[in-house]
Amino acid sequence: MATRITNIEEYKAAYKTSLETPEQFWDEIAGEFVWKKKYDKVLEWNFLEPDVKWFINGKLNITENCLDRHLATKGNQNAIIWEPNETGHQARTITYKELHEQVCIFANALKKLGAKKGDRICIYMPMVPELAIAVLACARIGAIHNVVFGGFSYKSLADRIQDADCTIVITADGAYRGAKDIPLKAVVDEALETCPSIEKVIVLKRTNIEYNTVQGRDILWEDAIKDCSSDCAAEVMDSEDMLFILYTSGSTGKPKGVVHTTGGYMVYADYSFRNVFQYDDGEIYWCTADVGWITGHTYLIYGPLLAGATTLMFEGIPTYPDAGRFWNIIDKHKVNIFYTAPTAIRSLEAMGLDFVKPYKLDSLRVLGSVGEPINKEAWEWYHLNIGKEKCPIVDTWWQTETGGILISPLAGITKTKPSFATLPLPGIRPVLVDEAGKILEGNNVEGRLCIEFPWPSMIRTTYGNHERCRQNYFDTFKNLYFTGDGCKRDEDGYYRITGRVDDVIKVSGHLLGTAEIENAINEHPDIVESAVVGFPHDIKGWGIYAFVICENERKDEHNLKLEILATVSKYMGSIAKPDKIQIVKGLPKTRSGKIMRRILRKIAENDLANLGDTSTLLDPAVVEDIKAGAIH
Ligand code: PRX
Repeated sequence: MATRITNIEEYKAAYKTSLETPEQFWDEIAGEFVWKKKYDKVLEWNFLEPDVKWFINGKLNITENCLDRHLATKGNQNAIIWEPNETGHQARTITYKELHEQVCIFANALKKLGAKKGDRICIYMPMVPELAIAVLACARIGAIHNVVFGGFSYKSLADRIQDADCTIVITADGAYRGAKDIPLKAVVDEALETCPSIEKVIVLKRTNIEYNTVQGRDILWEDAIKDCSSDCAAEVMDSEDMLFILYTSGSTGKPKGVVHTTGGYMVYADYSFRNVFQYDDGEIYWCTADVGWITGHTYLIYGPLLAGATTLMFEGIPTYPDAGRFWNIIDKHKVNIFYTAPTAIRSLEAMGLDFVKPYKLDSLRVLGSVGEPINKEAWEWYHLNIGKEKCPIVDTWWQTETGGILISPLAGITKTKPSFATLPLPGIRPVLVDEAGKILEGNNVEGRLCIEFPWPSMIRTTYGNHERCRQNYFDTFKNLYFTGDGCKRDEDGYYRITGRVDDVIKVSGHLLGTAEIENAINEHPDIVESAVVGFPHDIKGWGIYAFVICENERKDEHNLKLEILATVSKYMGSIAKPDKIQIVKGLPKTRSGKIMRRILRKIAENDLANLGDTSTLLDPAVVEDIKAGAIH
C-alpha cells in the first residue's frame, strides 16, 4: 500500500509532511479504507477541554475493514491461527471467510439477546478464537466492548461492569492457563451479585469446570448462536462513535475507562501496524499479549486484521509445559514477526539457553518489545539468541490511552539502539518538559514526556467522567497531553523512556496503581493502613513492596502475610500481590498527614544513604524502625 514507508528517507519525508500538513497527511492514509460515507473534515481539536475529533461525520464500520474488505482477495487465507494451552491438542485455523461468517453469526446472536448500538458489553474470556469473535461481533453491531483481563478478580470485574453500566457479559466456564484451570464463570457469578445492570451472560464451554447456571440470565454460546444467520449488515458508525472502553490504572482512585472511538483508532491501528512491523503479505505474525490489555486489542486483533495479516493467538503461558514453549510455537507455525514483553524475555533468559537450543527460529524476521523499558541485557539476549543477530528489534512505546504505538523504530528501517524506543511515528509530536512545564528544546535533555499534537487513535474521554480525563492527561501541562512517563532524548534525537513519574508501577508490564493495591490490602480486617511502592526487580522490571500497619499485634506474622496476599488476589487479582510485605508501627508522614513515599521508595530500593531530609516528618523515629525491619 502506498502508505507503507520502505526506507529511512521516506520516513523522514513522511514525518516532515505530517508536521507541515497533518490533515492532508492523514487524509491520504484514511483514503485506503472503506467508508460508508466519507468524512467532511479530517480534524478538529483542542487540548484544553479536551475535545478531539478525527474524520468528522465519516460513517464506517471497522469490521468491514477488518473482514469484508479482504474477502475477495484473502478469503481463504488464515486470519487467525490459534495455539491451545496443551501441546498435544490440535491448533485451530480460521480463514478470513470463516471469521467473517462466525462474527456475523455471533453478532446476530447478540442482537437476538437484545444488544444494540451503544450498549456496553463486557468480555471476560480465555485466549480462544471466540474472544476475537466476540470483540468483532460487538463492533459489527455497534456495541461498545469492555474487555476485562481474565486474571482480574471478581471485585475488579464488578467495578468495570458497574462503571461502564454493561448489559451483557460474555465469558467461558473456565480458562486453561499453564497447569491451572481458572473458574471464570464462578468469578463472573460473584461479580454479578453487585451488578444489577447485567441482563444476559453468554457462556462458552472451554473446560470441564462445573459451574452454576442462573435460569433466564445465562445462556450457552452454542445455544445463543443456534439458527443465527451468517448474514449481518454492519451497523453504520460515526467516526467518533465509541468503539471500546478499556480500563487502566491511575495514581488515584479506581481504574479509568479509557474510551477509543471508531474512525481514528482504525486508521492508526492499521498504519502503525504495517509500518512498525513492516508486515509483508503472507507472513505469520504473533503478539503474545492477552486481549485483556490494549496491546491485544490493537496488535493482536484490530491492527493485523485491518492489514489482512495472519495473527497468531496463544492460549497458554511461556513456561508451560516448559520454558521453550514460545520457541516451539515459533518453529511450529513458522512465525515471522514476534511481539512480546521484556518481562517474558527476562524470565525466559533466566531459565537458560537449553530451552532455546532445540529450536531453529529461522522463520523469524522481526522482533518486538512492549509494555515496559527493555534493559540492555535483555535486549542483547533477545537479539542474539532469538533473532540470531539478523532480526531488527522494535522497542515500541505507547499506552492504553494512545491506542497505538507512538515511538518506535520501523523494522529494518530505523537504526536501533538497545533500550531506546528511538523515533516518533509520522504524525506524532513528542516534547519533553521540565517540572514547571517548560519545553526542553534540543537534544541531550531529560524530562517528562508529553505529546503536543493530536493523533487519530488518542483517548477521547474517560467513560462517564470527562473531567477525570482532562485532569489526568491535559491539566498538568497546558496544551499538552501528559503521558506520566519520564524520558531522555539523546544526541541523535532518539527517545529513551525511563519509567513512570507518578504513583503507578509497571509490574511485569502491567500497570498497577499503588492506591488501588493499598485499598485492596486495607480490606484485610487487621490492617489499619498501608503504603505501597515499587522496587527494581530483575525479572518483573518492578516489584511491589507493601508497608502495612496492623491493628492488633499478630504473633503469626507469616500467616498474616499469606492472608494479605489472599486479600489482594481476591480484591484485585493475583498480578497485584506484593512481593514483599513489611509490618511497621508507623508510616513516615508529614505534619499535614501525607505519606512521604520518596522515603519508602528509597528504603525499598535499599538506597538508605539517600533518604534525604526527614526532619519535616511528624515522627522521624518511624524511619529508623522501618529501616531496621526492611526486607532486602
Ligand atoms: O510507562 C510506559 C510503559 O507502559 C506504560 C503504558 O502502560 P499500558 O497503558 O498498560 O500500555 C502498555 C502497552 C502499550 C507507559 O506509560 N511502556 C510501554 N511501552 C514501553 C514502556 N516503557 C518503556 N518502553 C516501552 N517500549
